[in-house]
Amino acid sequence: MNRERTLSIIKPDAVQRGVTGHIIQQLIDGGLRPLAIRTMRLSLEQARAFYAVHRERPFYDSLCAFMSSGPVVVMVLEGEGAIARNRELMGATDSKKAAPGTLRNRFGTDIERNAVHGSDSPETAQAEIAFFFSGAELAALSS
Ligand code: CDP
Ligand code: MG
Repeated sequence: MNRERTLSIIKPDAVQRGVTGHIIQQLIDGGLRPLAIRTMRLSLEQARAFYAVHRERPFYDSLCAFMSSGPVVVMVLEGEGAIARNRELMGATDSKKAAPGTLRNRFGTDIERNAVHGSDSPETAQAEIAFFFSGAELAALSS
């Protein structure tokens, strides 16, 4: 058993399209349990801090502007191999190349506006969860 937690974000494009419910249902059907869910609007500073690992990349400024352009839904997902499972359900970064039926294929537009974020390793999952949720908050939600 490898029960993990990962951070998921429904990005502003998908929230704006009204597909939040569809995305959450597809994650649940895929074996992931939303432990915590919060709707919020990232400030530009928060987006820049969250994506700091990409700060030297050419897409960084545009990505951070996009991520702070409207409400997002941030979630802690729990389940067997949750980090890899979430990435599988999301599909490739570029929505245009994401496999049919994946979240990015169904709900994204291009390589930037790709509907969802998911942590890519146990280390980033831990750091990204802590970016949005306190330990006390998660302890209170854990059964
Ligand atoms: O999100 P993922 O881990 O699949 O990709 P990433 O390489 O960590 O990039 C983070 C985010 O930056 C992507 O999800 C896209 O929204 C954006 N991005 C972009 O706008 N242009 C690129 N060439 C690559 C990524
Ligand atoms: Mg990434």
